[in-house]
Amino acid sequence: PKDVGILALELYVPSMYVDQTDLEAHDGVSSGKYTIGLGQQKMGFCTDREDINSFCLTVVQRLLENYKIDPREVGRLEVGTETILDKSKSVKSVLTQLFESYGVTDLEGIDTTNACYGGTAALVNSLNWVESSSWDGRYALAVAADIAVYAKGSARPTGGAGAVAMLIGPNAPLVIDRGVRSSYFTHCYDFYKPDLTSEYPVVDGKLSIQCYLKALDECYKLYKKKVADKQKIDVNLDSFDAVLFHSPYCKLVQKSVARMALIDYLDKPNQNSDLEKYRKIKLEDTYFDRDVEKAFVEVSKQQFVDKTKPSLLVAAQVGNMYTASLYGGLISLLQSKTLQELTGNKIALFSYGSGLASSMYSITVKNNDALVKILSNLTGVQRNLDNRQKVAPLKFEQNLELRQETCHRAPYEPVSSIESFFPGTYYLSRVDEKHRRFYERV
Ligand code: ACO
Repeated sequence: PKDVGILALELYVPSMYVDQTDLEAHDGVSSGKYTIGLGQQKMGFCTDREDINSFCLTVVQRLLENYKIDPREVGRLEVGTETILDKSKSVKSVLTQLFESYGVTDLEGIDTTNACYGGTAALVNSLNWVESSSWDGRYALAVAADIAVYAKGSARPTGGAGAVAMLIGPNAPLVIDRGVRSSYFTHCYDFYKPDLTSEYPVVDGKLSIQCYLKALDECYKLYKKKVADKQKIDVNLDSFDAVLFHSPYCKLVQKSVARMALIDYLDKPNQNSDLEKYRKIKLEDTYFDRDVEKAFVEVSKQQFVDKTKPSLLVAAQVGNMYTASLYGGLISLLQSKTLQELTGNKIALFSYGSGLASSMYSITVKNNDALVKILSNLTGVQRNLDNRQKVAPLKFEQNLELRQETCHRAPYEPVSSIESFFPGTYYLSRVDEKHRRFYERV
């Protein structure tokens, strides 16, 4: 099959958020720490009425409805998540409920987990299936979703929650470039969830930033090499119309653009005399080097504004959606441009999951009917974000305590209201004494 890639995209974010300025005041940190220091504006969250199953039910059903996809046209369904409700039963198995009534049970795919990388793994599995001898002509659906919550403390403002579903098949407008995806996988304890009764991770913030930047270095260098070897093209930041990242918080993304500019410079030093002193530095010595960071943030300032900032809408307004973060970035970018602006674009994407798994790959945008449909479906993204309900930090905190106490309880009747929910949202109606979970739709 030709031009295998993404044919449709759907986003779901919960209907409630806490404002990061309010959170700064509530947490008693210096004003500007979350909003300027981390670059975050709002943080989406959910109550005990939602869980990872309901998130995925909502986003998949919405994609099928909004793009008028008959479930019988789908032959593979993959879920990437690190929000684990059950050590055995997959979220995918819950989603089969949306297909079974159409007689669709020949539906391969299960869940994939490795921190924020699962969404990319789901996408890669879907692409591989369509390009393989197992393919039967139907679409694949890749779902990335997470509820990102942290214990009280410095990591809490970097939470978030959301889901993205992507329809994968041939003749796509968002074609995944073949043969150039570059990956870096290794072992580290930067962020992990060893306590299976808790939704909170164990996180070494500083180490996680170092691991993220190291993974970016390795993926970008290898991507450059692969393109140079195969296509005899020297890749640099200007090879791309857009550069997208997994976004734990937006400030790290701006530093990542600077990092790529640094790698480009070390690759092919230019005549900029301000940078001369950095010519001989080693990448691994510079993860927390303020001077290097400052110099290359300055050098890449305009590139950040042009190529990356448009992709940070959902990241800034919702927070880290873990597996869905990078794909929320793709949605943010697409909804910010016109068909003409996007046509022919080359988009770089960097996916990172702690522990660690990472890849860089690229997309070439082709103008076809499916692109028109995607753009028309995404026109509501900003409105949707604006229509959410603002909740005071204290209430947000009480809600996290409620989740903490009840997320694995059985039997359980959720207590939170569904009043503010967007139409079409699935919610948890009850958990029975055997831990079986039941959902209804607004
Ligand atoms: N005004 C403006 N900026 C401020 C202010 C202020 N009043 N106060 C602090 N800042 C800046 C700091 O200078 C710093 O920016 P810099 O790094 O550019 O200098 C930034 O705000 C954050 O402040 P720190 O003191 O470094 O924050 P802290 O150490 O408390 O926490 C961290 C930050 C480590 C990111 C924490 O939120 C965390 O652990 N998050 C989860 C881990 C994470 O997201 N890791 C990223 C990759 S892994 C993943 O995706 C989960």
